[in-house]
Amino acid sequence: MSIEAKIRKDLQLNEYEETIFSKIDWKNCPKHIAIIMDGNGRWAKSQGKPRTYGHKKGVDSIHSIVELCGKIPVEYVTFYAFSTENWKRTESEVSMLLGLFSSSLKKYLNQLSDQGVRINVIGDLSKMGPKIQKEFLDANEKTKSNTKICMNLALNYSGRADLTRVTKEIALEVSSGKLDLEKINEDYISQKLYTGFMPEPELMIRTSGENRLSNFMLWENAYSEFYFTDVHWPDFREVHLFEAILEYQNRNRKFGGLC
Ligand code: IPE
Ligand code: IPE
Ligand code: MG
Repeated sequence: MSIEAKIRKDLQLNEYEETIFSKIDWKNCPKHIAIIMDGNGRWAKSQGKPRTYGHKKGVDSIHSIVELCGKIPVEYVTFYAFSTENWKRTESEVSMLLGLFSSSLKKYLNQLSDQGVRINVIGDLSKMGPKIQKEFLDANEKTKSNTKICMNLALNYSGRADLTRVTKEIALEVSSGKLDLEKINEDYISQKLYTGFMPEPELMIRTSGENRLSNFMLWENAYSEFYFTDVHWPDFREVHLFEAILEYQNRNRKFGGLC
């Protein structure tokens, strides 16, 4: 079945959605999309609800987007779920978020695995406690042969921390005589990052109207196309991803060249 037919079978597209959708060139789809899921708190506030309600609803958005990405030619989708700076939030919000990561994984693991989703974590899981660490490592192991889509969750993630970790690793290799200084190049650094086994994101989306990276994939985003939308993450659905992909396809990516 063609991509178009598959999507139309599963989603009831309204007239506007159909207009966007029909303009997308599926042969020119980003292989890797990275998303800074922002605005859960503001969305909840707009509903007169506590921030935690926004985080819970945000999980539904992840679910919809992963499912969609499994049907289109995207190979990797990365969600920024918890930054190293997010520990600054109140203890109760942090503990709610950690509980939500764990319960959502439990709730969706089998379904995602059956759908061919490979689950991978980028970030320092060791600081998230042994229970969460084990749950995500087990999920990674269980789904490692799945090929439909690789879902990366950035947990306790920081772009600077990742580069610092890699710098130390390389320094140790050089000082112990295992690595020649001349062998250090951009590819060598890239493949040592958490994202080393995947292509760099061609499209980086941030929701909720903030126009910044907040320490997300600093190295990998060097030539990504940035797409900012005012939509809060809990409202983000398939049509918003279609809009982002279409906008991406209308950009002129020059990589420093002239065309
Ligand atoms: C994103 O939503 C989720 C996380 C950072 C964990 P926020 O919680 O940052 O929502 P706002 O920005 O306060 O609205
Ligand atoms: C970025 O959102 C981190 C995640 C989405 C996990 P924040 O809400 O933490 O970022 P700032 O504080 O607005 O930069
Ligand atoms: Mg925020």
